[in-house]
Amino acid sequence: MCGIVGIIGREQVAPLLVDALKRLEYRGYDSAGVATLNKGVLDRRRAEGKLVNLDNLLKEQPLSGTIGIGHTRWATHGAPTVRNAHPHTTPRLAVIHNGIIENFAELRSMLEKDGYVFETETDTETVAHLVTRALDRGLSPVEAVRQSLPELRGAFAIAIMFKGEEDLLIAARNGPPLAVGYGDGEMYLGSDAIALAPFTDTLSYLEDGDWAVLTRNSVAIYDESGMAVKRRIEKSAGTAFLVSKGNRRHFMEKEIHEQPEVISHTLANYLDFSKGTIRTDAVPVDFAKIDRIAASACGTAYYAGLIGKYWFEQIARLPVDIDVASEFRYREMPLSKDSLALFVSQSGETADTLASLRYCKQQGLKIGSVVNVKESTMARESDSIFPTLAGPEVGVASTKAFTCQLATLASLAVTAGKMRGTISADDERRLVHELSEIPRYATQALKLEQQMEAISRDLSQVKHALYLGRGTSFPLALEGALKLKEISYIHAEGYAAGELKHGPIALIDEHMPVIVIAPYDRWFEKTVSNMQEVAARGGKIILITDSRGAAASTLKTMHTVILPDMPEIITPIIYALPIQMLAYYTAVFMGTDVDQPRNLAKSVTVE
Ligand code: F6R
Repeated sequence: MCGIVGIIGREQVAPLLVDALKRLEYRGYDSAGVATLNKGVLDRRRAEGKLVNLDNLLKEQPLSGTIGIGHTRWATHGAPTVRNAHPHTTPRLAVIHNGIIENFAELRSMLEKDGYVFETETDTETVAHLVTRALDRGLSPVEAVRQSLPELRGAFAIAIMFKGEEDLLIAARNGPPLAVGYGDGEMYLGSDAIALAPFTDTLSYLEDGDWAVLTRNSVAIYDESGMAVKRRIEKSAGTAFLVSKGNRRHFMEKEIHEQPEVISHTLANYLDFSKGTIRTDAVPVDFAKIDRIAASACGTAYYAGLIGKYWFEQIARLPVDIDVASEFRYREMPLSKDSLALFVSQSGETADTLASLRYCKQQGLKIGSVVNVKESTMARESDSIFPTLAGPEVGVASTKAFTCQLATLASLAVTAGKMRGTISADDERRLVHELSEIPRYATQALKLEQQMEAISRDLSQVKHALYLGRGTSFPLALEGALKLKEISYIHAEGYAAGELKHGPIALIDEHMPVIVIAPYDRWFEKTVSNMQEVAARGGKIILITDSRGAAASTLKTMHTVILPDMPEIITPIIYALPIQMLAYYTAVFMGTDVDQPRNLAKSVTVE
C-alpha cells in the first residue's frame, strides 16, 4: 500500500527519505522512488522491488538537496515498473500520490489535447500535468494547487515539490491518511507517524479535503473551501506503529477511518482500473467449472458472506449455500465435488470456520478463503486465497476487515460473472467502474460522523433496538445489530424488513428505535411499507437512505441520514460506515470498553 514522505530540512534528505520509506514497508509496495531539489535541479531515482534496490541506486547515483519527497508504490494503475514508479515529474514539479484518481482518463485526454505528453499509464501523472498546466498559465504554485484540487475526483493523498521553490512543499488529503510533522526549522510529511518517528513526534493529521503549504519555518493548512484552518498538534508514540491509535481515541475509530484507503488497496488486487476490467490472474479459480459455492464463516464475516451470496447469485448466476460455521461443520450437508468451499475470516484462525474448512477438505472439495491474515492457518490450508488488504485490525469489533471482505466478494462475483459468461464486456466495465468509486463514496460517508454522533446520543438512552433492511441491506441490518450489541451492550436484533409482521412487530412501541437501512433501490418501496407499519405503532424510525429515498418517503422519522446516491452494487459497503459509526458513538456515550468489549476476543480459537 503506497507510502508518502516529504522533508524540507537542513541536512541532505535522500538518505532520510529512504529511512522513512523503510518504516512504511509494512504497508506493502512493489517499487519506490525519491526526488530532491538542489540549486535549481529537480532530480529523481526510482527502482522496482524492495527498497534495497533504491538504496543501491542512490549509492551509485546520489541525489543532493535538503528538500525532497519519497514514495513506496503499491501498483493500482499500471505495472510495478520503474517508469510507473513515483515521483512523477514534469519540467516544473515532482509529485507523489497514494490512492486513486477516478477521473484520470477524462483529465488525461483533456491535458493531451492541450499538448501535455504522458510517459506512463498511471493516474498520478495526470496530477503532475494538471498542476503544471496551471503553472504554465502563470499561477503561483499555491494557486496552481488550489485551482487544480477541485478537478480531482477520487480518494487521494498527494505531495508536490516545485522546481525553483526550495522552501516549499504542498500536500493534500482526501481519503488516505497524511500527517504533517513539525521540526525546528524543518517540516515533514508522512503517511503515518511511524514514517516520521526518527524526525519528530509532533504531528497534525490532515482531514479530508485539507491541503497544506509547508516551508522550513511554517505550516499553513486550508480546508476544502480554501479557508485557513488549525488542526490539532499532537505528540505521537510513533514507534509502536501496529498498536498505535494515531490521533484517534480508539482503534475502532481509527479503523473506521482507514476504510477508504484499505478498500482501495483490496480492490486494486482484483480490478485493473486502467483497463476497466477484472484481473483474472488474481483469481486462481475457474468459476465456470463450479456449479455451487458452499460458504461458511462466523459473526461479521458470516454477514459479509451473506451479502456475497446476493452478488454471486445475481451477477454470476452461481448458487451459494451459506451457513454459520458452527452449524455447517456438524450438519452433514451433502456436498458436490464441483462445489467450491468458500470461507470468510479476518483472522484466518477462527476455530469453527477452520473446522468447517477441514471438513470440506476431507470431502474432497476445493478450498478458497477470503482472509485478512495471509500467514494464518486457513490461508495455509486453502487451495486458493482471496486476500483482503485491510491491514492489522486491532479493535475487537470488525469494521475495515468487513468492508474489505465485501470489496473482495463483490470483485469475485464480477470475476465469476465474466468467467461464466453471465455478464458482457460492457457490464464488466460498468461494474469495475462502480466498484472503483467505493473509496470516494466511503470518504463522503465518513463526513456523516457528527450526525451519527448526535444520533448515538439518543440511541445510548435505549435498552433495545431493531435494524431492518431488504436485499443486501438485510445482512447489513444483522451486522448493524451485532455491532451495536457487542460494543454498547444494548440489545439489538436485525431482521429482513418483510419479516417484521411475522413476529417482531409485537415489540414495537414508542420506546423502540428502528434503524431502517434503505437506499433508493429496487426494494425501497417495499421497505417503506414496513416503515409505515413501524410508524403506525409509534416506533421511532432512524432512516438511513439517499436523497431520492428521503424525497420519496413522507414518513416522520426521528432522524434521517442521507448518503449520496450511488450504484446499487456498492450500497452495502458504503452504508456499513454510518452503521459502524452509530455503534461506535453509542458505545462511547455508554462508556464501555470500545476496543475490548467484555467477554469478547479478537480471534476465537475455541469452539
Ligand atoms: C464482530 C466480529 C466477529 C468476527 C467473528 C469471526 O465484530 O468481529 O463476529 O467476525 O468472530 O472472526 P474471523 O473473521 O476472524 O473469522
